[in-house]
Amino acid sequence: MKVIAAMRGRSRVMLITAMGVTAALTAGACSSSTSSPAAAPSASGSATSGNITWWASPITTSSPDPRTVLINAFEKVYPNIHVKLQSAPTDTDTNRASLITTISGGASSPDVFMGDVIWPAQFGHSGLAAPLSSYFPSSYWSSFAPGLVQGATYKGQVYGAPFFEDQGFLYYRKDLLAKEHMAVPTTWPQLETDAATLVHKGLVKYGYVWQGSSYEGLTCNFMEYLGSAGGTALNSGLTQATLNSPAGMQAANFMHSLITSGATPSAVTTFQEAQSMSAFATGQAAFLRNWDYGWSYSQTASSPSSVVGKVGVTPLPSFSGQPSPGTSNIGGWNLYINPHSKNTAADVTFIKWMTSPAAQTILGTQFSEIPTVQSVRQSAAVKAKNPVLAIVGTTRLIPRPAQTTAYPKVSQAIYTNINSMLAGGTSPSGALSAASSQINSAVSGSGI
Ligand code: GLC
Repeated sequence: MKVIAAMRGRSRVMLITAMGVTAALTAGACSSSTSSPAAAPSASGSATSGNITWWASPITTSSPDPRTVLINAFEKVYPNIHVKLQSAPTDTDTNRASLITTISGGASSPDVFMGDVIWPAQFGHSGLAAPLSSYFPSSYWSSFAPGLVQGATYKGQVYGAPFFEDQGFLYYRKDLLAKEHMAVPTTWPQLETDAATLVHKGLVKYGYVWQGSSYEGLTCNFMEYLGSAGGTALNSGLTQATLNSPAGMQAANFMHSLITSGATPSAVTTFQEAQSMSAFATGQAAFLRNWDYGWSYSQTASSPSSVVGKVGVTPLPSFSGQPSPGTSNIGGWNLYINPHSKNTAADVTFIKWMTSPAAQTILGTQFSEIPTVQSVRQSAAVKAKNPVLAIVGTTRLIPRPAQTTAYPKVSQAIYTNINSMLAGGTSPSGALSAASSQINSAVSGSGI
């Protein structure tokens, strides 16, 4: 992986793989001047009636449910297409495992599924998602922000329509920082010190919460520290682990120290997004690492949130001597078609609408998601309602090495060993060396 400096009057730096393949490379990088979203290249699909089942995990657990808001808006435009929501597990790993069982068994339902941006290689390789080129004209893909379609492509075929992008951000309690005359931290060590101080002074129960449970989300967190330290998980050919390095040690040592210093509670080893979000929104934590929707969740009293009006959001901190800000992991979700679906014409209508300016504006303005359609992402009107979107152009992005079909095992090697380290079961160097050998087995095809 190399670092290249970019672009157009902004201090943004992009990280790209040497393969030149990343999801969402330049998400929101360009400056914006448009005041309202432009029309999508195609606003309608090829069917105006039918029934489809949509498999989707809750986009955020705040109320109202974004999936229902979107389905209701879709059905107003297409009253003769009925969409049945099939609620999927929130944990992306469990979600993927259930879908694999269902689709590989030949089931025709769900018709459309909301799937992680890290799935195209595995789903494309195993025939678990339909190649979309036969359903969408090539002009359809040009409305998306740069990098997103490439991230949804495996071996020349696009498997997912970019639905929303996620990036990691730091949320902080403005009131607590002001009380202690603390500046918003821009380095990881500063964040650690401030978080521990706030806890030791009894101002808050937890300092800094994040996702430390043994699952995909922990890989995302680890990748952010690793990228901030200047490291990578795999070589550019995706054939060898590279995380057992000085940068890997800095990342692992820092995560370990967050717990031993008291900045982060040891309970973080069981936290996924929902638990960390809830700890912050209920006023129990001073700092939170979460995705973009953390903004809308924390600012919605019915979420429930008791910190409405007390929260700030900023790009993730970095390590001293490294470029600032730190790196944010590229997450997000695409819309895929089940290859056995019997309703593909209605599936296409649904996906086109979900990636239209109307749907993307709902996601961007009501749920603080990062829209995938460039005109919506750059819209001043949308940015005005979404403070996360206003800073998206300043983040430095790091992808997960998901272009290898061995990625699920690569990630598992990272999150199981880092979780064990956080729980005190192994040392930082022990975790990295175990992860490294498991990754090497996975990418050489012998599994872990
Ligand atoms: C978010 C991201 C997704 C990631 C997951 C990990 O849903 O969008 O890409 O895999 O979190 O928990």
